[in-house]
Amino acid sequence: MEDFNCYLPVKVIFGNGKLSELGHYAKNYGSKAFLAIDPYMDKIGLGDKVVDLLKKSSIETFKYSNIEPNPVCFMVDKAAKIAKEEGVEVVIGIGGGSTLDFAKGVAIITTNPGKSWDYTERTDHEIHRPNDKTLPILTIPTTAGTGSEVTLYSVLNNPTIKEKSTIFSDKIFPKVTIVDPELMYSMPPRLTALTGIDALSHAIESYININANLYSSMLAIESIKLVAQYLPAAVANGKNKEAREKMAWASTLAGMAISHVGTVLPHALGQPVSGLCDAPHGGTIACCLTRVIEFSFTADFNRFANIAEAIDSSAIKSLSLREKAAKSAELVQRLLKDVNSEVTFGDFGLREDDIDKVTNIALKAYYMDINNNPKLVTKEDIQKLYKECL
Ligand SMILES: [Fe+2]
Repeated sequence: MEDFNCYLPVKVIFGNGKLSELGHYAKNYGSKAFLAIDPYMDKIGLGDKVVDLLKKSSIETFKYSNIEPNPVCFMVDKAAKIAKEEGVEVVIGIGGGSTLDFAKGVAIITTNPGKSWDYTERTDHEIHRPNDKTLPILTIPTTAGTGSEVTLYSVLNNPTIKEKSTIFSDKIFPKVTIVDPELMYSMPPRLTALTGIDALSHAIESYININANLYSSMLAIESIKLVAQYLPAAVANGKNKEAREKMAWASTLAGMAISHVGTVLPHALGQPVSGLCDAPHGGTIACCLTRVIEFSFTADFNRFANIAEAIDSSAIKSLSLREKAAKSAELVQRLLKDVNSEVTFGDFGLREDDIDKVTNIALKAYYMDINNNPKLVTKEDIQKLYKECL
């Protein structure tokens, strides 16, 4: 058996209605909370409900919902300034990946020096590292895709240079996450589909990652099976209880997997486009996931054949190992079609003239994802892949 490490210091509370237990867990971390909440979820009344819940556990709350998709680093800095003035002791994030990543940024900057962008992983600046004073974070996802509820990542957007970058630190592992599938019922079909594809991609990218180990692979392959089986049903009927539950769990599993080994080429290609074109994260992943699988599958027939098997074992029964591996791309594409998510980078506004720019951003801010891809990737490969997915 191979040697490996696993580390996931996040208490996961999973189940319908579990939001009601938030106060019980939050009171262990302080009596004044900064609540970062998705503006839509706040508008439909969840923010006030949570403030009341926390009050019952004697926690005073500062509610903040001025959070955009692709959270802006400068807004994180502004919010952290308020959090500092308010004397908050714990940060709670309720929403999709953008809100949870925003909350993590606030937890850092409230008690650490500098600006949030200084902490992102890039080759063009000296990277600041969060210290032990980083505020404790609790996360409550309202989409099934990001996995941010259990990860050590926070992706921030810098609109001045139109680039996104990732903070990467075990200081921002949430202390507790409450994964309550009932909170995901309000997601419309398009959001359900694109966030679900993000979860699928986390699972696939961690599974094919050169750092994949026994633990991350176990989480990833289960997640792939669940997404293949339940995402179409969750998109077709958002009130399908079983589909929402299984997708919530699939997303959390995939988040646990990327926490251990990270993502690879689809995220390296998608993130620069998301930053440049202000495009939805899951959408940019859907643009290139299949093409990256086609490009990479020859590096490890076994792994890619296992992906095909997890998506639809009946479709690969009589095929050779190589054919099974090749089939994984086709099965992913079929799933994208089933959930109306066959998109291109061009659909989100990327032009051929932008390809050099996004390639350079990928090399500067996503070099770890590129280095972890199972097949070696050159700058020319990245340009070619962008062109093919345009
Ligand atoms: Fe992602």
